[in-house]
Amino acid sequence: MLQAAAKTLSVATTTSVSRGVLLSIRHYCKRTATTLRVSEAVSGAELGVNVKVQGWVRSVRAQKSNLFLHVNDGSSLQSLQVIASSELNDPLLTFGSAVEVTGTLKKSPNLKQPVELEAEQIHIVGECDPVDFPFKIKGRHGLEYIRQFPHLRCRTNAFSSLLRIRSEATTAVHSYFKENGFLQIHTPVITSNDCEGAGELFQIEPSGPDYEEDENFFSVPAFLTVSGQLHLELMSGALSKVYTFGPTFRAENSQSRRHLAEFYMVEAEVSFTQSLEDLTKVMEDMFRSATEHVLAHCAEDVDLFHKHVTPGHRDIVEAMMKNRFPAITYSEAIDILNRSSESFAFPKDWGCDLQTEHEKYLVKHCGNLPVFVTDYPYDLKPFYARDNQDHPQHTAAAVDLLVPGVGELCGGSLREERLDLLRARLQQAGLEDTYNWYLDLRRFGSVPHGGFGLGFERYLQCILGVDNIKDVIPFPRFSHSCAL
Ligand code: 4AD
Repeated sequence: MLQAAAKTLSVATTTSVSRGVLLSIRHYCKRTATTLRVSEAVSGAELGVNVKVQGWVRSVRAQKSNLFLHVNDGSSLQSLQVIASSELNDPLLTFGSAVEVTGTLKKSPNLKQPVELEAEQIHIVGECDPVDFPFKIKGRHGLEYIRQFPHLRCRTNAFSSLLRIRSEATTAVHSYFKENGFLQIHTPVITSNDCEGAGELFQIEPSGPDYEEDENFFSVPAFLTVSGQLHLELMSGALSKVYTFGPTFRAENSQSRRHLAEFYMVEAEVSFTQSLEDLTKVMEDMFRSATEHVLAHCAEDVDLFHKHVTPGHRDIVEAMMKNRFPAITYSEAIDILNRSSESFAFPKDWGCDLQTEHEKYLVKHCGNLPVFVTDYPYDLKPFYARDNQDHPQHTAAAVDLLVPGVGELCGGSLREERLDLLRARLQQAGLEDTYNWYLDLRRFGSVPHGGFGLGFERYLQCILGVDNIKDVIPFPRFSHSCAL
């Protein structure tokens, strides 16, 4: 940037700016260090420039006449090597301390580290006691160890990589929908409906002296959302293609490696659908597009996982990206399970819900690729799922996407758009009054439509190979745990 400014000025000198003015500007540029992120500094674009870099010390090595530091500010996995005269050494310059280094960026003789910062000044902004600090300079700490320090784990390479991947994957999801004509809807976090009907709700009530214990703040019981689906459905009835991406809450008393009490869900709803394939196409395209984006924009961070945290997982991701996702019906899935010699803990008769062990087996059976399972038993699915009106095996037009290592990643369905069928089902469940507004959507310009939800943390587990969902979300909330 400054080089460019100086170049413009050199050109200007020969024309109108006097030499005296140019020299004083150069002198000013030399004195005023530009603040750079580490990622900008290591890119090599600012060689010879006087810069200031702020970050946390990742390594310190003192030699007789020189001091070497690595400074990281979270802008990339790479740290910037700082070389300084040993006179600048200080006992408080320890692993984990926060520093501000001013100096000149130079080409480094070290090929691995093409740029280094020749320090003129090192200011210790925040000390860090290396004995008490839970991460050690030479330690390779596993995800399970760093999970014990939710307030500090972002200081590790693995978790800061995860956070950059998560941020980039979020961007990729929004880009996919924008590029494909979907409108983003901010669906509410506080709602009075239980979309999934599974009763895994967190009820919310005000607290404090101004409120009676039994008083409903909203006049009806209110809950944290379990899904934005119903709100999206009503929007798709005017805007055709909509999506939402936000926090979702389930009071599942589960300590499993794939359940959280608060997680992020990507949900889409599409009007004028012809068949389930209209939905599976969006699921697969979104998966591919987001994964391509992450692999291209976070290559180093993904490599860290695939090389050091979950070795061998890259091959699985490459296979997922190379091959189309197969689709089988639920009935075919049950046949596959019944033909297998594996002993399963849960029953696998037609009509039973697929358990994680079944889902993982089906994925392996289909070549360790993501697999769509369609047309589930009608009675297993919530009231909104479209009746296939088939027999003797009565099914609903619902689909789950099962993926390697995780099991269910997405759940979706065509929605029952026929007023009489929907009303009958709601009546049967005693929900007709509660969902009168939902029936209105079928009274006024109803169209065939459908949608799905993708668990964002499970998506990250899937592409990184991470076994425990608590390691892919900044602040995991699960039963019996809400640290921070
Ligand atoms: O299959 P689910 O329950 O589907 C719905 O909520 C639909 N209403 C979505 C829709 O059609 N718009 O949840 C969707 C996905 C699951 O496939 C799973 O990946 C994830 O959300 N999920 C969870 N992720 C983490 N922790 C939990 N407790 C989860 N429950 C569901």
